Amino acid sequence: MKRWIRLTAVILVPVFLFLSCCSCGTQSDAGKVQTIRIGVTVYRKDDTFVASLCTYLEQIAKKKENESGKKIVLNIVDGQSSQALQNDQVDQFISRNYDVICVNEVDRTAAATIVNKVKAAKIPLIFFNREPVEEDLRMWDHAYYVGADAAQSGRLQGEIVVEAWKKNKSLDLNGDGKLQYVMLEGEQEHQDALLRTEYSIKAITGAGIHVEKLADDIANWQRAQANSKMTQWIEKFGSRIEVVLANNDDMALGAIDALKASHLDPKPIVLGIDATQAGLKAVDDGSMYGTVFNDARAQAQAIFDLSYSYATGFTTSGGAKPSGRYVRIPYRVVTRENCQDILDEMRS
Ligand code: GAL
Ligand code: CA
Repeated sequence: MKRWIRLTAVILVPVFLFLSCCSCGTQSDAGKVQTIRIGVTVYRKDDTFVASLCTYLEQIAKKKENESGKKIVLNIVDGQSSQALQNDQVDQFISRNYDVICVNEVDRTAAATIVNKVKAAKIPLIFFNREPVEEDLRMWDHAYYVGADAAQSGRLQGEIVVEAWKKNKSLDLNGDGKLQYVMLEGEQEHQDALLRTEYSIKAITGAGIHVEKLADDIANWQRAQANSKMTQWIEKFGSRIEVVLANNDDMALGAIDALKASHLDPKPIVLGIDATQAGLKAVDDGSMYGTVFNDARAQAQAIFDLSYSYATGFTTSGGAKPSGRYVRIPYRVVTRENCQDILDEMRS
């Protein structure tokens, strides 16, 4: 009997030691990872805000590569507004054993297909900027969303208008005590378009200001589309337009282009969201009244940090993983008073 116990111990102890070594392998392996592969697909590369987020991602990855001595492959591909193409791109990342896959969905309501693919391959998945429905995100334990609180951006945009309206009675061009506005909206199903449209107006009416909507239309985040909508509205409503609310800076800039071409006098005030370089310049020169800072760099940092942690430490096979599935970077109000500070911050 004693011999049997001794024999068992002789066999089991090394097995146990071997196994425990394997289970701690994910931690001790962290220092050994030489190449990290991060695959990123975006809904379209020519979107101003998304392009700036990608530039930040590249800068952050380069910096980390220099600091860590690891090779970081950051492959950013363009979905070109095609969900089918984007699905193929995700397949490619999977077949090439990428460590992490980051997706800026073309059709954010159709995330389940990608979640299923990436889950089957046991790869961590980070959605960003275009928020999938929660049910889809929850299908994979290692799926996340990095973005911002869309309702907050609408609220802040509305608050800029409230301040302006209270401070400056001449904004009420026809003196009827009501704020006549037009609204330029982003893509139809986009969470930011829906919530910004809703909450900007809620903030204004919630402050006791009566509003009258003259027109609203979808311009898909794009300057040229916004320009042509605004040109039509100027023809139709002329100086009855007191405020132009745009769901992003590019559309606000399109409206400003149309206003400049029209020589309308007096002009309505124009509000955007994003604080892109061109947006900040327009706030600085007074052609845009205000915008809301959508912090592309902080979002890129959050995407990168999560990707790096997974590639070097966290595991999808029962090991550690970060708590919470949502990372939301706060928005900030930008007016002429603080736009230089924001520009300096972006340059630093
Ligand atoms: C929004 C941004 C828009 C556009 C859109 C694309 O957050 O404000 O300018 O980039 O994302 O999904
Ligand atoms: Ca009025």
